[in-house]
Amino acid sequence: MSPAFALAKTEEGFFDLAAVKGQARLYGKDGGLSDLWLYNDRLPGPQIRVKRGERVRVRFTNNLDEPTSVHWHGIRIDNAMDGVAGLTQPPVAPGESFDYDFVVPDAGTFWYHAHNMSWNQVPRGLAGALIVEDDEQSFHPECDITLILNDWRLDENGILETASFGAMHDFAHAGRLGNWLTINGASMPDIALKKDRWHRLRLINASTARILDLAPARFGAQIVGLDGQAFDTAREVEGTVQLAPAQRMDLVLRPQETGKLPFEMMTGKPFTFANFVVSETESEDLPLVLPPPNRLPEPDLSSPWELPLVMAGGAMGGMQSMMRHGVEMDMRQMMSEGLFWAFNGVAGMEDDPMFSAKRGDTILLESRNDTAFPHAIHLHGHHFRVIERDGTKLENPDWRDTFTSQPRETVKIAFVADNPGKWLIHCHMLGHAASGMMTWFEVS
Ligand code: C2O
Ligand code: CU
Repeated sequence: MSPAFALAKTEEGFFDLAAVKGQARLYGKDGGLSDLWLYNDRLPGPQIRVKRGERVRVRFTNNLDEPTSVHWHGIRIDNAMDGVAGLTQPPVAPGESFDYDFVVPDAGTFWYHAHNMSWNQVPRGLAGALIVEDDEQSFHPECDITLILNDWRLDENGILETASFGAMHDFAHAGRLGNWLTINGASMPDIALKKDRWHRLRLINASTARILDLAPARFGAQIVGLDGQAFDTAREVEGTVQLAPAQRMDLVLRPQETGKLPFEMMTGKPFTFANFVVSETESEDLPLVLPPPNRLPEPDLSSPWELPLVMAGGAMGGMQSMMRHGVEMDMRQMMSEGLFWAFNGVAGMEDDPMFSAKRGDTILLESRNDTAFPHAIHLHGHHFRVIERDGTKLENPDWRDTFTSQPRETVKIAFVADNPGKWLIHCHMLGHAASGMMTWFEVS
């Protein structure tokens, strides 16, 4: 597998990014060519690599036939640059351009993706990595490896199946699950590692709905960060760890033998979707320097503003009715509008925010999953600590921008609403978001 292609700046200091129609073989050389929508005709989109604190300017052009926008997932960004079509900017029409201009306050592993009709645009290929480098770098460039994991639904010819985009059955169940995984757009790639050298692997789950069960300990890796936020110390995790849609996981490892190591998905029996191939190197042996944690505002848990976030609806969820623009709708009406899910009994975006915070308020969201499916809930513009699961307080609560919630589980998250603007909260199973699991909050 060739290393991820990094985008260079133009002379004027812009990253040029264009959404275009393109093609790729998702099933390897034996599969057919899939029609995709791509950034700069690459799968995944080109890597944008910058330094902590840098000003990033992206001149984006839409060469698709439909409007789109670009969201910078996990960046604590200026609201006007968040890229949410219809909330923070008008969608970029076909043939038009939009300049994104923002500063990246945190180092870590982030990504960008389309944010207009995301359920239809992201699973056709509109996603790429946004890597913000730490001040000190202790990895050889060849040992700092970004891996974008993607789940596709392919037909019997290995071609992206497009007839089922928007299928209500998927929306009402676990989302658009695929049947084939790629890494950086490649089918069953070899990932080159060096013996006796420290590596940093940056995993990004760009899937539409697939939660990946991974087992980093099986290939000798430790976790050093989640969703772009570094831990204080490396964490050895026995067993499996979930990587839900939109989540990232940073790993470090130092292979001690040459040869092949499988990279597996642990759902059911282990399924190998890539191989690490370890070879000798002459390069200098650098010591492991863990990325330093970012400085995030610490939630004040002495007097937080507590709010519920109850997820309901979906197939087998037992929901009878939900509210839409102040009107109660029964299941039949909801289905006819393509709405299956609700937060706090309300399906989809309303004109008013779910809550309005004053800048600096600590918000404690108590989420409860009253549905039959897991969800991956993302907050825009903020990172939060996951402080409690099913009544158990978590020691050393992790910072995240997307948290998972299993059926019947309660999860408490806390954050300081310190970023003024209009911010989405939605499930990152993109069909769920499109069919009701999406709301917003305001910070002023
Ligand atoms: Cu990664 Cu609202 O999205
Ligand atoms: Cu969901």
